[in-house]
Amino acid sequence: MSKIIGIIGWGSYIPSLRLPLTDLAKARNVDPKKYLKGLILEKMALPQPYEDAVTMAFEAAKNALDRSKVNPEDIGIVVVGTESKPYSVKSVAGIIKDLLGCSPYAYVGDYDAACAGGIQAIVTCAAFIKSGLAKFGLAVASDISEYEFYHPGEPTQGAGAAAFVIGKGNVDVSIENFVAYSTDTNDFFRRSEERYPFVYGHFSEEAYLEHVIKTHEKIVSTRSPKPDYYAFHLPFGKMALKASKRIGLDDEEVERKVKPSFEVVKATGNQYAASILNVVIHFLENMVNVGERIEAISYGSGAQSIGIIFKVEHDLKKKVNLAPTLNHYLRKSKLVDVKYYEQRRRNLKEKPLIFGKIEPNSTNGVKRFICENCGMLLSPYTIKKCPRCYEKGENFRLREIFYPFKAKLLSFEETEKDVFEEMLKGKIRILEEETENLKVGMDLKLKVIKLKVEGKNGLIHYGPAYEKQE
Ligand code: HMG
Repeated sequence: MSKIIGIIGWGSYIPSLRLPLTDLAKARNVDPKKYLKGLILEKMALPQPYEDAVTMAFEAAKNALDRSKVNPEDIGIVVVGTESKPYSVKSVAGIIKDLLGCSPYAYVGDYDAACAGGIQAIVTCAAFIKSGLAKFGLAVASDISEYEFYHPGEPTQGAGAAAFVIGKGNVDVSIENFVAYSTDTNDFFRRSEERYPFVYGHFSEEAYLEHVIKTHEKIVSTRSPKPDYYAFHLPFGKMALKASKRIGLDDEEVERKVKPSFEVVKATGNQYAASILNVVIHFLENMVNVGERIEAISYGSGAQSIGIIFKVEHDLKKKVNLAPTLNHYLRKSKLVDVKYYEQRRRNLKEKPLIFGKIEPNSTNGVKRFICENCGMLLSPYTIKKCPRCYEKGENFRLREIFYPFKAKLLSFEETEKDVFEEMLKGKIRILEEETENLKVGMDLKLKVIKLKVEGKNGLIHYGPAYEKQE
């Protein structure tokens, strides 16, 4: 792969709820040292009830675009790697592309290659750019890992998203080399009608190590200089120690080149496809110097490994603070207990909600159409018809609404009313549990959430809400 193609912006997102694994160990009658030392994990990141792979992908992608300073309309391809798609049929990339304001002519697609999907997205964007099919690409990974209660994989669960803007020419981090290795391996799989995966756990560890080492051997055979950091897929920290040993790193190298990545997995758990991308981002934001290389080897069950050698071309310090950092999300955490975690899985009812009026504090934001008949929110790029009212033969009128990325709070109240009813009145959901935490005049920041889900398997309405600006 050409040296001049690579990363020009990056972004992370980690949901803020955290379950300490010491609490889970107690509830499951397990020695906490098994989780903390045996697996090398500390906390499980859990999404809020209004978050999923789409909303997390949006947040990470927005951060990556802000860092790149690329106009969303210039993005020619958006690819999302995820194995926690909210729809079996409907692409995540297509939903976030419209929310971000990318052109309808941008190519969109999802990868569901288990945890290798994020790296596949990067390689696909790079190939599009190299062939001249796109000027800029957006490669995203977003996942929520789930196992059944009491499953051996339960303590490894986690959530997170990461994104890279890929471009050509004056890139921050070039893609120097790329290797793929795949076999038909039955270590971990999930049929579309099942909520949880089936796992041969110990076998999956061997499958991971075999694919990682085969990928590493091929990378080494292409004679790239020895990397300064190693980013592995991290279902839990211990897997990286096992992988480091298999590829022959000594203790000093493991300490310096691998272990810094444990800060990520210890605070989040397994982020599936986003795991390795956020490890790379951790190195970019905290460790690397110009000229240094990261060897990133993903593993996705089923199974495939993709290895990329990233080379740092510029000093990245100036870009780090152009958007919230990964460290910001790792620190921004609200502890929850096992009771909350178990209830949340069974779908917590989150009512009453807070709605408020805002005034814009920025000129850029998210555009939507609202149906004045039923309140349904629509992408401004879709056909100018409300699907529900059109199907029922009812009259409708669409009104364009602009939701700024930054806003000031003008008023707020708790309500049991339907979200679309409130939005038709010009109100918007404010993401706070208690009205005592809100003040008129306070600065708010837009966050895309699941505004409403129609029925158990129904349509998911993604749209804007506001949270406190930090
Ligand atoms: P388990 O069988 O319950 O755990 O679950 P274990 O008995 O193997 O113990 C785990 C480690 O803790 C061992 O360390 C124990 O010795 C140690 P190791 O021998 O491996 O170095 N231990 C203790 N240490 C200190 N004090 C103690 C103590 N007790 C035990 N008291 C298993 C482990 C991996 C099977 C389970 O977590 C699982 O099924 N996880 C899901 C599958 C998985 O994560 N596989 C990893 C590779 S595949 C992959 O990464 C892909 C994936 O992300 C999916 C995708 O691609 O989409 C999963």
